[in-house]
Amino acid sequence: MPSPTPQAVLAPLTEAAIFLTLTLEDETPGSATTTATTPDPTADTVRALLADVGGLRRSVGFRIPEGDLTCVAGIGATAWDRLFALPRPAGLHPFREVTGARHHAPATAGDLFFHLRAHRLDLCFELAQHLVGRLAGVARVVDEVHGFRSFDQRDLLGFVDGTENPEGDERAEAALIGAEDAAYAGGSYVITQKYVHDLAGWKALGVEEQEQAIGRTKADDVELPDDVKPANSHVALTTIVDADGTERDILRDNMRSCRHRVRPSPSSATPRIPASSRRCSRTCSSASRPATTTGCSTSPRR
Ligand code: HEM
Repeated sequence: MPSPTPQAVLAPLTEAAIFLTLTLEDETPGSATTTATTPDPTADTVRALLADVGGLRRSVGFRIPEGDLTCVAGIGATAWDRLFALPRPAGLHPFREVTGARHHAPATAGDLFFHLRAHRLDLCFELAQHLVGRLAGVARVVDEVHGFRSFDQRDLLGFVDGTENPEGDERAEAALIGAEDAAYAGGSYVITQKYVHDLAGWKALGVEEQEQAIGRTKADDVELPDDVKPANSHVALTTIVDADGTERDILRDNMRSCRHRVRPSPSSATPRIPASSRRCSRTCSSASRPATTTGCSTSPRR
């Protein structure tokens, strides 16, 4: 039997993306009364849609081949138990929230996740409409972010983002499950996070301090030398090395999503000033480290 074709997890970044997170309606997913073996019309509808995602993607994407439309479907840990009478992939679990001295990464609800990508947002949106339409009455969209790639590959902080993403064969090695969980080989784990940036505060730091925070130069994107790069810089902290010296990679798909928040004007005579609340959404795919906000498994689909 041929091995299953992985979903388009490894596809390169495109200009546009939609991140859709949904929760299932009615019975509590994963509750004792709702399993994959009890009658559950909601689960039937979801399973039928998951089987059709590839076909729906072709229905939209085939007409504009140069749009490179892809769709990756992810299934949350508790939804997995409700949808499938199969053991969970080894690393799939609900996100364990992280509370630090200054920052908090909450666990937010998510049973289904769709990562839609194309060179044009209209293709993503058309497919999203099909997906959401098919799930009407059985699942609720709890988060929808429309992202766009920025020129020069820069993120909202103004830094080139994605440089150290794995390339070539290393992408599959980093993001796809292998022989360590043979039943799910070719699948992947995805986490999705959303950050709201305080851009006024960030800009007030000045370029040198920003570079120390990230660990790379801002203009030309060169990693700071080890004796200059602070140990708490982003790049230093995100370089994860196992006890045996193996460096662990993840695949990141960062997209910008911006909205200018309109502040109430002190008087009607004063023009409204757009403030700088902007957000970015990012997914990280990994073969071994499912975690954070919404953790989903993306099983290989044909
Ligand atoms: C607001 C959120 C974030 C922003 C703006 C951001 C930005 C950046 C930038 C500018 C770089 C340097 C260029 C590059 O190699 O891509 C970087 C590197 C990296 N980031 Fe982030 N990042 C964010 C969140 C995260 C999160 C949540 C993770 C992990 C879950 C992460 C993991 C990494 C990794 C693994 C690298 C590569 C480090 C290296 O090997 O040099 N980032 N990020």
